[in-house]
Parts: sequence; C-alpha cells; structure tokens
Amino acid sequence: MYETLLTSLKENILTITINRPTKLNAVNRQVMHELGLVVEEVYNDPSVRSVLLTGAGDKAFVAGADISEFMGLSVEDGKAVARTGQELFMKIERSPKPIVAAVNGFALGGGCELAMACHFRVASENARFGQPEVNLGLIPGYGGTQRLVQLIGKGRALEMMLTGNMITAGVALQYGLVNAVVKSEELIANARALLVTINSKAPRALSMCIEAANAVFDESSNGYEAELNSFGACFGTKDMQEGTAAFLEKRKPLFTGN
Ligand code: COA
Repeated sequence: MYETLLTSLKENILTITINRPTKLNAVNRQVMHELGLVVEEVYNDPSVRSVLLTGAGDKAFVAGADISEFMGLSVEDGKAVARTGQELFMKIERSPKPIVAAVNGFALGGGCELAMACHFRVASENARFGQPEVNLGLIPGYGGTQRLVQLIGKGRALEMMLTGNMITAGVALQYGLVNAVVKSEELIANARALLVTINSKAPRALSMCIEAANAVFDESSNGYEAELNSFGACFGTKDMQEGTAAFLEKRKPLFTGN
C-alpha cells in the first residue's frame, strides 16, 4: 500500500516501519506524504488502538530529512518544508491514540524530531541521537528546537544543537529523552509489551491524558482547566462506570471506548 513504509496491524497495535534502509531511512517527500496518510489512518481506523513507530534495518531509526532534496530551495521553499514537517509532527503529537517510537539506531535531525513528536521513546543500545543541522548551515525545522528544550532542558538542548554532536542511548536515558534502553533484539518486543498494557486501558482516558500533557506546552490552553474538564467528562463515559465497577467487583475491566 505504501512505497516507503511497512505497516502491520496485530493486537490493535499498528507497527509503522520507515523503509528506506539504504538511505538510513532518511525522510524524503514521499516518506513525509506517506506518513501523513498513515497518521490519518491512525486517527480514523477504529481497529488501531496504538502505534509503534520504528525504522527498517538495524542501523537507523531515521538519519534525518533527505539532504539531497534541500539543494536549490528558496527561502520560501524552506519555510514551506518546515511548515509541512511541523504540521505533520504536531499531528503525531496530538494523536488521540498513543504513538511510541522504538529507536533502533541513528535518530538524527528530522529523525530525532520525529522520535520527539511521539508520546514517548524506547531505544536500543546502539541508538544515537543528534541535531546535526548546524553542520549543514541549517537548524532543526520540524519542531526540534521546541521539543528538545521541552524534553531535556535548554542547556542540554542547546549543547546538542550548537555542537551537532550525537549522544549515546545511555546519555539519552540520563537526559530523559528516552524512557528505557534495551538490547537491540529486545526493542520491538519491549515496546509492544508497553503498548499491550496501554491497549488494555480505557481509550478515551488515554487520549485525555495525551491532550492534558500537551496542554502544558500550549500557551493557548489552560492545562488545569483542560484537566478538570476531561476529568469531568470521564464521569459521562461507560468505560469509567465499567472501570470503577470492575475494581469494586474484583474483576478485570473490559473497556469499549465508550
Ligand atoms: N539524507 C540523505 N541521505 C542520507 C542521509 C540523509 N539525512 N543520511 C544518510 N544518507 C545516505 C547516505 O548518503 C548514504 O547513501 P549512499 O550509499 O547512496 O551514498 C547512505 O544513506 C548510508 O549513509 P553513510 O553516510 O554511508 O553511512 P555511515 O555509516 O558512514 O554514516 C551517518 C552514518 C548517520 C553518520 C551519516 O549518514 C550522516 O551523517 N547522515 C546525515 C545526518 C544528518 O545530517 N541529518 C540531518 C539532516 S537535516
């Protein structure tokens, strides 16, 4: 169905694999376009409850935007490229269904930005993170200047952006950029296990958690107000009735997303 992505749906988890291993899964226009389509699918397909995003091969998650497409672009073209990337990555960040990045090697430039747009990240021991755009006379353009500061703090973020140096998976863990570092061969199973746990929870509560967490960084919304409105809205759901009843009846809840 897609030329640059592999997708597979199992146990309501959609695995999306960016599949240009000979180019270290660099994100070209086609990948961008197809990521946009697959994100629409995530929003609209009720059989998708959560997403695992990774890269093909054992060397890279995504080694950045495809540098070969940057030659000859004008100032306006550059802005348009950034706008397209920012809008797509924001759509990933605002997905009502959890999206977890399984970072299996280089996550550089747009690859680090893509991983940061996901709701959280797990990494393999060989993962490397970096924002090396300054080596090209560029800056991160798909939300990276904002999300890196949000996730690891300004000093560490600026060191990464200004030096262009890569950090190891261990340093990324220490910085809080990733939640866990696991052996390469265990990465997908580890991420899937987290998503199986997540998929057993009430879907609307999950999307409200994501929305409230995003509100922290959204100047146009009051996070506490968003939280209390969502908390209240939970009381109008069948899943909240089911969850509380199941607890009191000492049984497992069966959530339907209603
Ligand atoms: N855009 C386009 N092509 C890329 C790419 C990118 N961001 N990253 C890697 N590739 C391509 C290489 O050009 C090479 O293609 P080729 O075999 O047709 O020449 C192939 O992927 C393999 O990469 P290579 O550089 O040979 O692998 P390596 O192991 O020697 O180095 C990296 C790996 C990640 C250190 C190196 O590829 C790199 O620095 N990539 C660019 C990272 C970057 O600046 N990203 C931000 C972009 S804004």
